[in-house]
Amino acid sequence: MEKFCEKLNEDTESNRYQKWHEHRNAISNLFNEVFSVKGYVQKIGILGAGNCDDLDINFLSSKCDEIILFDIDLSSMEKAVAKLSEEVKKKITLVKVDLTNLNKFDFYNKFEEMVKENVPSKKIKRFLVESASKLKMDNENLESYYYSCDIVASSAIYTQLVLNWLQEKSKNSGNYTTKELDEIVNDGGRYLTDSVVKQYNSELLKLVRKDGNLVVWADILPVHPGEYDYFRKRNYSIDKRILNQHGLTFSFQGLKDIRDRANFNKWSNWIWDFSSNGGYICIGSSANLL
Ligand SMILES: C[S@@+](CC[C@H](N)C(=O)[O-])C[C@H]1O[C@@H](n2cnc3c(N)ncnc32)[C@H](O)[C@@H]1O
Repeated sequence: MEKFCEKLNEDTESNRYQKWHEHRNAISNLFNEVFSVKGYVQKIGILGAGNCDDLDINFLSSKCDEIILFDIDLSSMEKAVAKLSEEVKKKITLVKVDLTNLNKFDFYNKFEEMVKENVPSKKIKRFLVESASKLKMDNENLESYYYSCDIVASSAIYTQLVLNWLQEKSKNSGNYTTKELDEIVNDGGRYLTDSVVKQYNSELLKLVRKDGNLVVWADILPVHPGEYDYFRKRNYSIDKRILNQHGLTFSFQGLKDIRDRANFNKWSNWIWDFSSNGGYICIGSSANLL
C-alpha cells in the first residue's frame, strides 16, 4: 500500500503546484472560516498531506504554532517540507501512518499472497468481510496526538483508501475471471472500504481537541477540462443521474458519515484542475464538533 501511494504521489506534472492554485485557494478559504472565529491556533493536523500541493503551508504556518502532517507516504511529505523556509520547517512534524488500521493485522501481505496463490474468490471475499470487523481499534501511530489538534483537516483521501489498491492487486497479481474479480473487488472490496472509510473518520475525530474544528474536502466527480466552464457557469450543480453514474462513491460515503458526526458550515464546490488529463469537482466545508 505504501509503495502504491508513493508511486501515485510521484506521478505528478511539473507545473502541478501552479495548476492547483484554485484548489489551494478554496482550501485556504475553508481554513479561514475557522481562523475568522478562532484567530491564531496552537496545532493543526492534516491527514493525507502527501505532496502538500493542495496546502498553502506558509499561510497555515502564519496562523498556528505547529502543523502535523500525516500520510502513509513519508517521502512525498519530506520533499514538500524541504522546499519551505527554516522558520516554517520548525513548526512542522511529519507522521508516517496507515490511516486505515489495516496494517495492524498484516492485511496487505495476506491479501497479496492470497491473490498470487489464486485462492478462490469466495474465500477472498470472506477474508475481506472478516477484515472489516477487525478495524475498530485505536491507531497506535496516532494515539499520542489524540484530542490535541485545534483543527484537523482531511485532504481528498476517501477515494484512495484501499479499494484502488485491491483492484490493482487482484487484476495484476492474480489470475481471475471478470466474474471472480467482481466478487473480490465489488462485493468484498467495497464492503471493506465502507468500514475503512468510517474507521478513518473516527480517527479523524479523535485527533480534534475539545472545542476544536474540522476542515474536510473531497473529490466527488471526475470532469474533463472542456467541461470546467460548463460546471462553473452552473455553479457546480450536478445532475443526480450523472452523480449516480460517475460520482466517486467512497467520497460520498465518507462525507455522509462525517456530516452526521459534526456541525458543518455551508458546503462549497470548486474545480480541482488535477492534471492535463482532467480534474474533479470538489466539495468541502469546516465544522465544529457536536
Ligand atoms: C489525493 S492525495 C491528497 C492530496 C495531497 N494533499 C497533495 O497535495 O498531494 C491523498 C493522500 O492520501 C494518502 N493516503 C492514501 N491512503 C492512505 C493510508 N492508508 N494512510 C495514510 N495516507 C494515505 C496518499 O499517500 C496521498 O498523499
